[in-house]
Amino acid sequence: MSWLEVEKKTVIVTGGSSGIGAAIVKELCHLGVKVVNTDLQEGTFEHENLSFIQTDVTSRVSVEQAVKSTIDMFGKIDALVNNAGINIPALLADTNQLDSPYELNDALFEKMVNINQKGVYLMSQAVSRYLIKEGAGVIINMSSESGLEGSEGQSCYAATKAAINSFTRSWSKELGKLGIRVVGIAPGIMEETGLRTASYESALAYTRGKTVDEIRAGYSQTSTIPLGRSGKLVEVADLVVYLISDRSSYLSGVTINVAGGKTRG
Ligand SMILES: NC(=O)c1ccc[n+]([C@@H]2O[C@H](COP(=O)([O-])OP(=O)(O)OC[C@H]3O[C@@H](n4cnc5c(N)ncnc54)[C@H](O)[C@@H]3O)[C@@H](O)[C@H]2O)c1
Repeated sequence: MSWLEVEKKTVIVTGGSSGIGAAIVKELCHLGVKVVNTDLQEGTFEHENLSFIQTDVTSRVSVEQAVKSTIDMFGKIDALVNNAGINIPALLADTNQLDSPYELNDALFEKMVNINQKGVYLMSQAVSRYLIKEGAGVIINMSSESGLEGSEGQSCYAATKAAINSFTRSWSKELGKLGIRVVGIAPGIMEETGLRTASYESALAYTRGKTVDEIRAGYSQTSTIPLGRSGKLVEVADLVVYLISDRSSYLSGVTINVAGGKTRG
């Protein structure tokens, strides 16, 4: 038996096919946790402890089916990691050009809010209905340092993350008395994931009046990140392991920065 004793747990990870979610899935599987990856498409990692249920977190029908299938397969859920998310940089108003592709529009707004905020609500509601019956469990919301600080060129994304920080605080008050903990993780600048596409980097550079090379240099500068490097995906996964374990039994209602000292929020 290990210090964390997570071996017998069953955990749903949304968006576990890529990036941070994939790192979480991998680490939990290696620790003996039964992991259900709920993503739009299956990832490349395979493991005897890993199951995949194709899920769109923005769809109530899809989410409720995924939760029901998990309980049918494993008989229980111990934790939910709301990790699925997207980030499309866009300015509130672009004064440089008319019909700018880098200006926030209704479609971009609705897409980010649907996946990053509504998806967290739908998954958390479906899972908490089950956890309440058990009187135990953990919900982990993947936020972002930008949700605490705000972010130039990423206002809508940052707002969705601030919204889920608020979900974390409110749900911890509603669910705490029922034995359920709700915690958030706010990663800062991390190693490359599926989120950091060429179009993401060029849009972010445009919105900040910088070149893509200048944006890339910021991934490891001590002037922005005191520890002077991007975060490793496994450094988020390590925190997830602690948070699903009973060793963190008095932690609830908070969002923890994993940002190398960058966050002031
Ligand atoms: N990468 C970073 O530097 C960073 C920093 C702070 C916070 N985050 C947050 O971490 C989380 C993971 O980001 P990442 O960088 O690993 O991104 P990623 O693009 O590598 O992975 C996101 C995953 O979510 C899935 N997904 C997207 N829409 C979905 C939907 N509707 N239903 C189900 N799954 C869906 C994608 O298919 C993908 O597998 C996000 O919530 C993101 O906001 C990332």
